[in-house]
Amino acid sequence: MSVRAITYRGFGVAVRIPERLPAAVRALARRSPATLPQGVELRAPPPIFARRRDPANATVFVSSFYEDDRSRPIPDAATLAAMPLAEQVAATRWYHTIELPGQVVTPGAFDHRPVVPHYSIPQSLAGKRCLDAACSNGFWAFEFERRGGDVVGLDIPSIADWDFPAGTPSLGTTTPDEFAAAAFEIAHRALGSRVELVRRNLYTMDPDDLGTFDFVHMADVLLHLRNPLDVLRRLYALTSPGGEALITDVFDPELTDRSMRYSGGFENLIWWTPSLDCLVQLVYDAGFSQVDVTTTYSIPGRAGWRAVMRAHP
Ligand SMILES: C[S@@+](CC[C@H](N)C(=O)[O-])C[C@H]1O[C@@H](n2cnc3c(N)ncnc32)[C@H](O)[C@@H]1O
Repeated sequence: MSVRAITYRGFGVAVRIPERLPAAVRALARRSPATLPQGVELRAPPPIFARRRDPANATVFVSSFYEDDRSRPIPDAATLAAMPLAEQVAATRWYHTIELPGQVVTPGAFDHRPVVPHYSIPQSLAGKRCLDAACSNGFWAFEFERRGGDVVGLDIPSIADWDFPAGTPSLGTTTPDEFAAAAFEIAHRALGSRVELVRRNLYTMDPDDLGTFDFVHMADVLLHLRNPLDVLRRLYALTSPGGEALITDVFDPELTDRSMRYSGGFENLIWWTPSLDCLVQLVYDAGFSQVDVTTTYSIPGRAGWRAVMRAHP
């Protein structure tokens, strides 16, 4: 142990200094802002609200309709096809409100009919090859066909393949997928439609096997994807030179600049809510050379605001 003696005007004091002390003082000095290079600043972090979330909660929103579907098995395809149309419609669950012949209207969770005239869909799609990516029960695909398009509708093979957060427990083998498939089939048959349904994950869409399209549509799915930009890049690759893409998705009008709120797929499978500017930037960054927001809208029963974007390669 070293000893330091200090004297002042005849008075003196001797202090014994433990060996550890000089090293501790030097370490403290290194941490002191006074010793940082100019322009470097250290701050204590603000309160952090991020926390571990239980992935089991991420599927709660589907389990309610899983239970419902399991309690009323859907008839097989042949039995279903032989039933009167209204009974077929009543035997399954509907995402889309679709007008079918005989004034039968499907009881969809979402009714897009009021926004169709504001959607900037070309009046005629005659002779155009069209893609409706993430088509669900086919409302938009059937609309494009009605305007003369030669339409491919694409949706995921199984709900179990949705982009749930990591660690989400398996949804089990009995899924309500057959309800989604049955709903599309019922509408397809009733409308005498020739829309081709492709069961495919958006992340695997590829022009090498799907070809390219003159008119590409994708709505209300970016918010449900872990990697929205990857899917937008694929969509761009599927859009023919001289073609166009109509992309609609959710944005938050309260968010400014190019910010994006992250929810991680925990609330109704919502991963991201971008500002409008961020949403448009994503579409540009996927490769499109011109992106115009043709309208923004909100409708009752659906949370949030949506922007319709028309994009050209
Ligand atoms: C909110 S719905 C929107 C349906 C329709 N596009 C519309 O605007 O009404 C989302 C659709 O995307 C589909 N989907 C979600 N993730 C997908 C993926 N990775 N690949 C293909 N389809 C997906 C769902 O199965 C569902 O049909």
